[in-house]
Parts: sequence; structure tokens; C-alpha cells
Amino acid sequence: MGLLTNIGILYQCRPDGAQADVHPIRDAALAWEGDRITWVGPAADLPAGFDAGERWDAGGRLVVPGLVDCHTHLAFGGWRAEEFVAKLAGASYLDIARAGGGIASTVARTRAASTESLVARCRDHLREMAALGVTTVEAKSGYGLDREHELRLLDVYRTVQAQVPQTIVPTLLAAHTVPPEYRERRERYVDLVVDEIIPAAAARGLARFCDVFVEETAFSPAEGRRVLEAGLAHGLVPKIHADQITDTGGAALAAAVGAASADHLERVDDAGIRAMAAAGVVAVTLPLASLYLHQPPVAARRLIEAGVRVAVATDFNPGSAPSFHLPFAMTLAATLQRMTPSEVLKGVTSVAAAALRLDGTLGSLEVGKRADAAIIDAESIDHWLYHLRANACVGTLIGGRRV
Ligand code: NIG
Ligand code: FE
Repeated sequence: MGLLTNIGILYQCRPDGAQADVHPIRDAALAWEGDRITWVGPAADLPAGFDAGERWDAGGRLVVPGLVDCHTHLAFGGWRAEEFVAKLAGASYLDIARAGGGIASTVARTRAASTESLVARCRDHLREMAALGVTTVEAKSGYGLDREHELRLLDVYRTVQAQVPQTIVPTLLAAHTVPPEYRERRERYVDLVVDEIIPAAAARGLARFCDVFVEETAFSPAEGRRVLEAGLAHGLVPKIHADQITDTGGAALAAAVGAASADHLERVDDAGIRAMAAAGVVAVTLPLASLYLHQPPVAARRLIEAGVRVAVATDFNPGSAPSFHLPFAMTLAATLQRMTPSEVLKGVTSVAAAALRLDGTLGSLEVGKRADAAIIDAESIDHWLYHLRANACVGTLIGGRRV
């Protein structure tokens, strides 16, 4: 049993209401038992009996739901600083990919890495992410690109899950790009994903979602649909890397297959936005990737005005977003995408949880939900995103445990 008291403002961030509705409670208290929240509200209303266990003083600071990073490529070998510099000199992401760099170069480094080193790196990243207040992390495969190595990456996430306090949500992204050895017979690679990798990952319960990168240098919309429908047939919920560098109709495909989310969306058009709104697809925006690839920022205002829920995530990966600093991505979502700080906060809590179909169990501070929370040293959510610091998070609660 635990009780967090002396909270200046607690933001509940319930899934209901508009994107900007974060449900603040002043002078609040939060109680939990095991890994579940048992009471939340104004401290003055706290009933007797909730203060028998461990007490934690928030020092008058903010308390928010534990942050949810709903789009990362967490496990990979090596880095790609050389491409960062090449892009600054004018090379485009698509040029680099066509020359055999980009994702393919990380695939080679990932296949060569030992399983132990991949596990250790994920653990190190997750420890730093916990310090930033991040308590749930979606993690994609996609740097294996054959049956053995895609399943190995998902196995890495299963091993890591047993060693860290955060909730890890694994996604199969075997259709990240066509691996070099299949370049002359790409349909055979789609066959491999559909006939072997998806069934094997699903049979072993290694993934909850199936993702595909629909892009000129990756997969066509028709190939993407084939992969996502195969995933659905095996119980994997669709997600899409959509309309990032070119508009390929990815958002409309996400709507057509009932995807949980369409991610990136720098180039989404109005028809795609309307289709997402009608189908209830969450938009996952990744402002670090927009920044590093010199892409125009996502038109978040148009999405929100059309009634689409907008999440914000890091896209942490060695190419287009080499940072897992979610609070930095939050400030970028405000400055580049013109989301209000309240809209951004909902986008990294209950809306991000909705992108993972977990908004019934985490992502908001409500009785019965997972006891995941972060204490933020700022006077308001507005001030937090405005005054970007190395780390304004001074304490993280994960599953009812202080870490
Ligand atoms: O989400 N868009 C495709 N995949 C990644 C990039 C991965 C890489 O460059 O290694 C992304 O941006
Ligand atoms: Fe991505």
C-alpha cells in the first residue's frame, strides 16, 4: 500500500473528453495497493484507511500519469552517426536507403550483435527512460528481417520485460524494408513475412501488434495491406508507418484495416485525415523524426480539428530519431506541431495508451488503473514544456513501486 501526498496539481488525463482535457486536481493525493490505483482526488477528501502504508511527499510538485512512449525501435546494433552527418551535407533519407544504407545498415549490425548485448542495451535505455518518467514502452522488431532474427528481437523484448519494471509492448515489424538479399524478388520476402514470420511470432505470443513501413523504399500499399491482413488473421492488431516521406495513402489503409494507429503522417492529406477520424485510428506523431529528417512538421491542428486523437512518441531508432527523450519530443510537438501543452500531455498518456489499445488499464490516474506516475518539478504543464530541462522528472512510480 502506498500514498503520494502534497501534490500541487495532479493531471488525471482520463481517456474521455477532448484532446486538451487533462482533468487537473489541485492539492491532490494518490493511493495504491499492489500495482493498482485505489484512490485519487483532493487530499482533503481522502478517506481514512488509505494512509497506512508507505508515504511519499511530492513537495507540492506536479504529478502526471507515467508517460507512454507508444512508438520505438528499441533493440538494434550499432549507431549511424555517419548518416546524420551525410544528411546535414544534403543526402536525403531515401538516397541513403537506395545506396544500401539506412535501415539495411542497422540490420547488418543488429544481426551481428550478440543477444546479450542487445538485452543489455535495451535495459540501459529503459533505465534512463524510467528516470524521465516513461513507464510504458512500445518496442518494434524490424532490424532482423529474416525469420530467425525477427523472432530473436521479439525474444530480446521478452527477456528484457522480465528484468525491468516498465510495461513493454512488443510489435512485429518484419515488413520494415525489403532486405538486400531479396531485392530482386521482393514478393518472396512478403511471402516469408506472411507465411512464416507472422504465424511463428503469433504462435509464440511474442507480439501484440503487426506494423509495416509503407513507403517508396519499403512496401507498397498493396503489400502493406497483405501483411496487415495476415497479422489480423493471427490476432495481431495493425499499425502502420504511414505517409512519412511521401503520401502513399497509408492513413486510408490504416482506416481500411482498422489499425490501432497510423504513425508519422508528415505528408497525410485531408482524405486520409477524414478516413482516420471516421475509423477512430489514433495518429502517432513523431516530431524527433520530422526534425532529424528535415520533414515538415505533422499538421496536428488539422488532425485534432477533424476529431483524430493525436499521440506523441519518440520513434527512438538509430537513423531518423536517435533519442529516447520523450519530454524533448513533447516540447517539439508543442513548438513544431503547435499542440498546446495540455494536448501534448494527453498525447503521451491516455491517447498514447489508446494507440496501444491499453487505455482501459493504463495511461491515466484513475481507480483500478496501473499505478504508474511521474513527479514533475514544474509549476504547471505549460511551464514544464516551456522550460526544457535535462530532466524535470524527480520521481517515477511504476506498478506501485518507486524507481
Ligand atoms: O520510424 N520509418 C521507418 N523506420 C524508422 C527509421 C528506421 C531507421 O532509419 O533505421 C522510422 O523513422
Ligand atoms: Fe518508426
